[in-house]
Amino acid sequence: MAESRTTHLLTTLSDDGLAFGCDYNPEQWDRDVWREDVRLMREAGVGLVAINIFGWSSINPASGVWDFSALDEVIELLHGAGIRLNLGTGTASPPPWLSTAHPEILPVAEDGTTRYPGGRQAFCPSSPVFRDYARELVTRVADRYGDHPAVALWHVSNELGCHNALCYCDESGRAFRTWLQDRYETIDALNAAWGTTFWSQRYGAWAEILPPRQTLSLRNPSHVLDFHRFSSDEQLGLYRAEARIIRERSAAPLTTNFMVTAHIRNLDYWSWAGDMDLIANDHYLDNRLDEPRRELSFAADLTRGLAQGDPWLLMETSTGAVNWQPYNLAKQPGQLLRNVASHIARGADGICFFQWRASAQGSEKFHSALVPHAGTDSAAWREVVELGEFLRLLDPLRGTRVRADTALLFSWESWWAIEGEGRPSEGLGYLDEVHSAHRAASDAGLTCDIVAPGADLSAYRFVIVPALHLIDDRAASVLSDFAAAGGTVLVTFSSGIVDADDRVRLGGYPGAFRDLLGVRVEEFAPLLPAQQVTLGSGAQARTWSERMTVADAEIIDHYVDGPAAGMPALTRRASGDGAAWYVSTHLDPEPYRDLVARIAAEAGAVRGPGHEGLEVVRRDGETHSYVIAINHTSIDAAVPANGRDLITGQTVSGSASLPAGAVRIIEEIR
Ligand code: GLA
Repeated sequence: MAESRTTHLLTTLSDDGLAFGCDYNPEQWDRDVWREDVRLMREAGVGLVAINIFGWSSINPASGVWDFSALDEVIELLHGAGIRLNLGTGTASPPPWLSTAHPEILPVAEDGTTRYPGGRQAFCPSSPVFRDYARELVTRVADRYGDHPAVALWHVSNELGCHNALCYCDESGRAFRTWLQDRYETIDALNAAWGTTFWSQRYGAWAEILPPRQTLSLRNPSHVLDFHRFSSDEQLGLYRAEARIIRERSAAPLTTNFMVTAHIRNLDYWSWAGDMDLIANDHYLDNRLDEPRRELSFAADLTRGLAQGDPWLLMETSTGAVNWQPYNLAKQPGQLLRNVASHIARGADGICFFQWRASAQGSEKFHSALVPHAGTDSAAWREVVELGEFLRLLDPLRGTRVRADTALLFSWESWWAIEGEGRPSEGLGYLDEVHSAHRAASDAGLTCDIVAPGADLSAYRFVIVPALHLIDDRAASVLSDFAAAGGTVLVTFSSGIVDADDRVRLGGYPGAFRDLLGVRVEEFAPLLPAQQVTLGSGAQARTWSERMTVADAEIIDHYVDGPAAGMPALTRRASGDGAAWYVSTHLDPEPYRDLVARIAAEAGAVRGPGHEGLEVVRRDGETHSYVIAINHTSIDAAVPANGRDLITGQTVSGSASLPAGAVRIIEEIR
């Protein structure tokens, strides 16, 4: 297998085993703690440390005043201990002197109110003043450390757009208009794309266009959609501006930490991924969700999709509780290892944490860390040391790749469109639909790649398209061509409804896929929150139903009750050697899993032994293949495998026992 550039870069982050790292904020501690920190990092096997993430006010304490002495000292301490640096550019949060001198850099919310300093990321992404100051900071940091031998990776800013993705200030308005002029060239083209004859919204000049600030009534959805696109591009522009400066001064690779996670949706990472030397993601278990660990699996698969199947780096996660959810749950014993193993199973070649030492002050003081408030005489620290040993044992996994012949289409643009104002039902959440599809596939034993609409599908047998509301003509034809060439497709309701301008595709839903599926939906019939419908097969469903007729497909199941009683619910259209399936409602987990399993079997997609409580993913190397099995249940289990258990060193023949809560990684000869 040819080693890709990213795979190679990841191997430079650690001498042996998978990279083990963390954010380190030495600014928060006295010098004597630094020495202790470095000693403990070595004890735990931490080899990659992110610093200077929030260092701006320390190295540049006043306008024109620079003091790198503390950072120099920390860098030399870490370097002396053989620890590699994931060096932050420090631009993530401007210091108070800057916002005091230039209050015009502060971001503005959609209601027109300013967001003040006192937290972090309090800047307008389009502010030229902010960008000037950030440029100077990055230039100085890159000049000083660009060729330092400890710098293994550049960490541009931090979670770009986490808090300030959407800024509605006048400066953002100016930048938005420039972006629109690039996109549409003429105001007439913009008027046509946005459908501005509606409600007398026609623009006569660019200067009349504002960011989509809060209005009395519903806003123009195409305007809002373009503002999302613009805002994602502005944040990417911040990355690019820093990257240009660093690349002139350093040969080390660059990345920034993505937030592929359930609670962030404002960045279209498909358009960012190509700028990264390696893909890095931050992920925290979100206990507000019904199934946090399933969301983790989905996010990890999506991160691998962004990395185009290459290994990637988990840049931040937590050993235990976070501090930003309403109920910040501690992890169960063993849960940390299972979470980490899920990321690795799905392609992570390095695991890093926020943060090294739990803060004593500041708004994150109750966030877990590698060194807890209790110190090293704690179960948490012992788990950290064990984790370091575990990661070292996984050296053979480096550079291996997850193989999947099932793909799931995912789109941030479509997410923005489907959850816009004035939609048929607030009960339809894009992530709910995507997560349910991913869950059904996982429970059916499938490993899914997550890919962008329009991506090459030739490597797949089966493609799942959950609630892909917005799709452009080209991406729609890629899917139709895939089915015509013998691929099997499952499309779910609310897909193919609008084009790239958010214009409804007329003639019946699901417009873009009507011919592919051989069905024609005349009317949506969404359900009330507590309402369920029953299908002829006995399956229960919720959220949505549709009044549809079938032109050229077989009716597999129909509605027994509800607003579409008697009408088709599930259809299949044969297409060449493949088939195009359509499900017009949100099936409950069991019937959804059974449907996906049935279609996968028909498609000839490879199904593994994984199911509801058992996560089993395979990573392939040139000579060996690795079965990563995680038992999330309290019942002992087993998985078929033959080879060597990387953790215990024991030989496995036929089947590997997988006790309740355990993780096994079995090396098999290919
Ligand atoms: C993100 C940020 C970190 C920290 C953690 C807390 O990952 O990048 O600085 O705030 O969240 O979970």
